[in-house]
Amino acid sequence: MSTNTSVTGRWSSRFAYILAATGAAVGLGNIWKFPYIMGENGGGAFVIVYLLCILFIGIPVMMAETFIGKRGRSTPANAAAKVSQESGHSTHWSLLGTSGVLAGFLILSFYVVIAGWALAYVFYAGTGEFSTMAAAAVEGTTGHADAVGALFGGLLSDPFKLILCTTVMVVATVLVLGKGLNKGLEAAVTSLMPALFILLAIIMVYSAIEGHFGEAAAFMFAPDFSKLTVHSVLEALGHAFFTLSLSSGIMMIYGAYLPEGVSIARTSIWIAICDTVVALMAGLAIYPIVFANGMEPSAGPGLLFQTLPIAFGKMPMGDLFGTVFFVMIVFAAFTSAIALLESATAYLVERKGLNRWPAAIVSGVGIWLLSLGSIYSFTGAEWTKMSFFGHGENFFDVLDYITSKLMLPLAGLFTAIFVGWRVKRHIVEQEIQLNGGAFTAFFFCLKYVAPVAITIVFAQLVGIINL
Ligand code: PHE
Repeated sequence: MSTNTSVTGRWSSRFAYILAATGAAVGLGNIWKFPYIMGENGGGAFVIVYLLCILFIGIPVMMAETFIGKRGRSTPANAAAKVSQESGHSTHWSLLGTSGVLAGFLILSFYVVIAGWALAYVFYAGTGEFSTMAAAAVEGTTGHADAVGALFGGLLSDPFKLILCTTVMVVATVLVLGKGLNKGLEAAVTSLMPALFILLAIIMVYSAIEGHFGEAAAFMFAPDFSKLTVHSVLEALGHAFFTLSLSSGIMMIYGAYLPEGVSIARTSIWIAICDTVVALMAGLAIYPIVFANGMEPSAGPGLLFQTLPIAFGKMPMGDLFGTVFFVMIVFAAFTSAIALLESATAYLVERKGLNRWPAAIVSGVGIWLLSLGSIYSFTGAEWTKMSFFGHGENFFDVLDYITSKLMLPLAGLFTAIFVGWRVKRHIVEQEIQLNGGAFTAFFFCLKYVAPVAITIVFAQLVGIINL
């Protein structure tokens, strides 16, 4: 395979890069998972463990991925091959990039469907559906929770609605990608990310006024070391990986566009800080509402699509703030979606000679077709029923298992091994540009801490060990 192709685009500023990478990192994981696992695993005590995982494993692996992209100045597979070749090793390390792009593609195929649910909920909230259901419940015609449950169930069993919402998300993604790096991706993130931040702040203020802020803060932060178990540590590490969108080709391709002179170390730290701040803000926006309505804290789709709509239905101006809330979720998911499809699009341009628009359209059609597998998994279609060595029940479960439990941790492990052990140290040093002690610390984390920690989490995830 010839490695002598490269990408030409560059982010126009350090700030644009940080926004784009933060947009890629901030997603459903920050909003529906982090505040919850924090509350369940000892609050403040868990935050300390989580921050250590981000600092000693997440950031070094993120830096390693960005390094590969920037040094190779090319799409992930080719970048990894070039970097390997430069250090006198096999171009087969390109697999690292291939697996990232593939994982990204598979993840996106269900991520767009879930983003589509959020889009449907913008519509439901905007048309007053939540308060109508609450009012009906007060009159005693239907149970409130049942009605909201039926709304969600109705969406999930209706292929037409799901396909419609997914299609809107895919088309929007293609429209951004087709315009290219500066006019497309960069323009989108520089307006969407500040907007996301403002919407989140608005919900937080609303929540502080209308909800039980103190109870939420206590659930999230009160340090309880007795709740901190081995599982919490594994959970923290797994989440650190997921929330920074590592191993999915994103940091490699975004790194390939990094202008000369921008520090990989500093920007990675900023991205991790912004991602964590958004996760904390999300918790402080959501949980006061949950507690004020006497509901149980939970994680996952149920929290966003069943618990919160009940709360919004009962609250003053709940339809308005519910709409704002779901618009924010759509933005958060959308900025991850464009990042996930960028490597595939850039690959078609760099390696297959397509123009940007056809490349974006071909990738979009691919994602759209694959998303049908997840859509029909939710509607319960027979042909989607399958499992992977006993894991999962349908196409969506299997994709989720293969990507989050197998591909992401394994690619992270090999990225750490590759940059820590195979690439010539002076090359890494030259690109990372950290001075003496800081570089040694970074390199130590990459060579030893990350591989050992990821191996343990991986072994636990797939059930080889049971801590
Ligand atoms: N980081 C995203 C989130 O927190 C999830 C994600 C993982 C997105 C991997 C892209 C790739 O929701």
